Amino acid sequence: MPPRWRGWQSRLIASRKFQKWAAAFPLTRGLVRREGEALFDLLAGFCHSQVLMALVQFDIPAMLLDQPATCNHLAARCDVPVDRMHVLLRAGVALNLLKSKRGGRYGLSRTGAALVGVPGLSQMIRHHDVLYRDLADSVAFFRGEVDTELADFWPYVFGGGMAPDVAATYSDLMAQSQTLVAEDTLRAVDLSKTQTLLDVGGGSGAFLTAVGAAHSGPDLMLFDLPQVAPSAQARFNAAGLSDRTRILSGSFREDPLPEGADTISLIRVLYDHSDDTVADLLAKCHDALPRGGRLLISEPMSGGHKPQRAGDAYFALYTMAMRTGRARSADEIAQLCLSAGFTNPQMPKPNRPFVTACVVVQKT
Ligand SMILES: C[S@@+](CC[C@H](N)C(=O)[O-])C[C@H]1O[C@@H](n2cnc3c(N)ncnc32)[C@H](O)[C@@H]1O
Repeated sequence: MPPRWRGWQSRLIASRKFQKWAAAFPLTRGLVRREGEALFDLLAGFCHSQVLMALVQFDIPAMLLDQPATCNHLAARCDVPVDRMHVLLRAGVALNLLKSKRGGRYGLSRTGAALVGVPGLSQMIRHHDVLYRDLADSVAFFRGEVDTELADFWPYVFGGGMAPDVAATYSDLMAQSQTLVAEDTLRAVDLSKTQTLLDVGGGSGAFLTAVGAAHSGPDLMLFDLPQVAPSAQARFNAAGLSDRTRILSGSFREDPLPEGADTISLIRVLYDHSDDTVADLLAKCHDALPRGGRLLISEPMSGGHKPQRAGDAYFALYTMAMRTGRARSADEIAQLCLSAGFTNPQMPKPNRPFVTACVVVQKT
């Protein structure tokens, strides 16, 4: 294509004259309106997120779960002037989180009710205050000039730097949000024939507890940092799993992984770490498994050559703010596994890519 033709389509669409014509022409005006709406939604997305954040911080969805309430009632409960609460509630209706009811009352939409019911979602939304601050100057953020808060956040939580009650809140955030991850992982991968499962970076044991509830067979081993791993005991006791579970403390950076499992899982672990750390960890998983053993990786992933909203326009930024890891595609993860000596990569189609996706490989 001659150079002057390159980009002709974009230049044409960008021209004011074309836009004016296309907005009036019957065959293109619907398309122009939809494209305009999509662009406007992107530019307004920040306000939409703040409406969601305010509703959650005021706890309004939980207040409306049993019965609708008036603006005056909610304004008084939240200590917000009535006229400002009115704006927030109407924004909530516009974003399909709330519904206007008779008598000037407000209730929950189906999406609003799901917001209350989805485990970990409200906590995740509240936690976004850290990410908002990191992204406030987006140019500096993408240039790598921001000393991001998120970079210290999780190490501070899991490294034991945080006050125990605050650390417990954030461990709980991981555990709560694990519910959906475990659901989708166990739907995608059959662990019913597993004899012993080792969950590396298993946190406070939420994934193993879900496996224990789904399958009566496998023995369950959890490996995590010494300041994290013991927190799993209470969860295993409460779930009646203490006979089937073993908790092992250590660091996969410094220590070899415990042997004896025929399946190892890495749930939401790799995206926190650099390629070098991931390569070392995968090699340790390979060493620890017997021949025929499986490695299961489950975490939100990039769409690779087809960028996706969740993986590439959210998790990629989140992990970039963390500064230690990155969102990888299933192909990239499979390639790293092959380099560590694994074979036969399987990538089941994810049910909800914004929750998690899986890669399974074998040691042959
Ligand atoms: C994002 S959390 C995921 C926890 C859990 N798998 C889940 O999905 O809810 C990452 C986990 O990796 C653990 N971790 C980080 N570095 C580690 C290391 N060097 N050795 C062992 N575990 C580590 C953290 O303590 C934390 O529990």
